[in-house]
Amino acid sequence: MDYLAFFQLDDDPFRLTPDPQYFFPSQEHNEILNSLNYAIEQKEGFSLVVGQPGTGKTTILRILIDHWKDKAEIALVMTPRLSPEEFLQAILEDLNIKLGKKSKNEMLKTFRDVLIKHSATGKRIIIIVDEAQNVPDDTIEELRLLSNLETEKEKLLQIILMGQPELKKKLEAAHLKQLDQRITIRAILRPLTRSETSDYINFRLIKAGKGTIVFEDKARKKIYSMSKGIPRLINLVASRALMAAFVSGSAVVSADHVKFAVEHLAGEGRSFWERYLPWFRYGAIGLALLILAVIGFYKFSGTTTAKMPAAPAAAGTQVQNVETKGAAEPATPASSTTAPSAQSQKPAAKNSSKAASRPTGKKPETQKAVKVMPPETELPQPAASKKYVTVAAPSANMRGAPDIGSEKVAWVAKGATYPVLESRQDTTGRTWYRVQHPSGKECWISKRVVTEKNR
Ligand SMILES: Nc1ncnc2c1ncn2[C@@H]1O[C@H](COP(=O)(O)OP(=O)(O)OP(=O)(O)O)[C@@H](O)[C@H]1O
Ligand SMILES: [Mg+2]
Repeated sequence: MDYLAFFQLDDDPFRLTPDPQYFFPSQEHNEILNSLNYAIEQKEGFSLVVGQPGTGKTTILRILIDHWKDKAEIALVMTPRLSPEEFLQAILEDLNIKLGKKSKNEMLKTFRDVLIKHSATGKRIIIIVDEAQNVPDDTIEELRLLSNLETEKEKLLQIILMGQPELKKKLEAAHLKQLDQRITIRAILRPLTRSETSDYINFRLIKAGKGTIVFEDKARKKIYSMSKGIPRLINLVASRALMAAFVSGSAVVSADHVKFAVEHLAGEGRSFWERYLPWFRYGAIGLALLILAVIGFYKFSGTTTAKMPAAPAAAGTQVQNVETKGAAEPATPASSTTAPSAQSQKPAAKNSSKAASRPTGKKPETQKAVKVMPPETELPQPAASKKYVTVAAPSANMRGAPDIGSEKVAWVAKGATYPVLESRQDTTGRTWYRVQHPSGKECWISKRVVTEKNR
């Protein structure tokens, strides 16, 4: 069962797209929309809206464009890192003006003709620049020159600049003052308040079909404190919290689900290797030191290294120790590349765990323990196994097959415990457990993110 069906939703309520269907008319969003409509209606010329990332600037533009699309000619520039010529070209193309190969002067002339043509009908021309903080200075200057092209008293050309707070600072620079002085409408888009954040969550749930979901008050508070009312962050956290509730089979989203979502998001963007490589390095250094110590011990005690088949296996011992602590992603020991048969390994595996926990003082004992250490292998276990695994990592992926490259089918939170249905090794020597996810799916989880217990 997927999570939309679980919560009886028609749609994903917290999708990260500036979808006008989901537009929540908060006081801030509404005021800015009204100001921009007013600026266009009153032919005010230049307008500027700034706001932190994710506050809803592009969403507002979508609503504005929807409102004006039949009454005005609109050019929307969303990738503004353009030279003055490229910028001009982008505007003319958006206004459906066929260009061919034209020089900048010819393009300016064409643009002027368009303005004159529309001045007869009174149709406004709106140039909207999103992410305007990225517009190069000489292109900003070009925009000002475009607005000079108007011959009529009325300003048919409306220019709206939207961007992050640094845009305001940029325009205050001495060489851009001329444009700055022409801005008649200025607005700052602020994040939602705490109560608006709660209303925003409700609004989006209702739009998506509401279903059976309940966000507890504490969960809403936590979402606000984590997102500071920034809609993009609200969406991110709320959507992950929903997923956490789904994974634990709960139709109620609690503060713990939000906490888990935030931890999970904080860890995202870093792969497993990026996260654990440092630990693996420490493990590898420790292992190298151990091998050196063993070699040194034998040299000084007069034993020749030729009599010592234990070194590669000693690597196995160390790796086993590190892995039980869950701190490192171990490399397969050299001795395991030619894996012995499963039967011959099982008893040895038992010895290995004993050897790993036993203090190794006397030389013959050390050698013995080291010698029997096999690569990590386990036999398939029957469905009625009494082995349980508990997720030890902050979160873990569950996969469709016992392979790191296979599809992720779910993710689970720390502390979740499942009976093991089967265990298998992949070609790299990694052990996987087959378990049953609460949704009913059978999936595979890596040994490296769990602790095991026999009950
Ligand atoms: N008023 C709103 N109603 C509904 N959803 C909103 C609203 N404002 C923002 N969002 C949501 O937040 C997400 C981010 O909004 P948007 O892309 O408009 O932000 P932005 O200010 O343009 O960010 P950036 O500076 O990164 O471009 C949107 O995808 C949308 O899902
Ligand atoms: Mg945007």
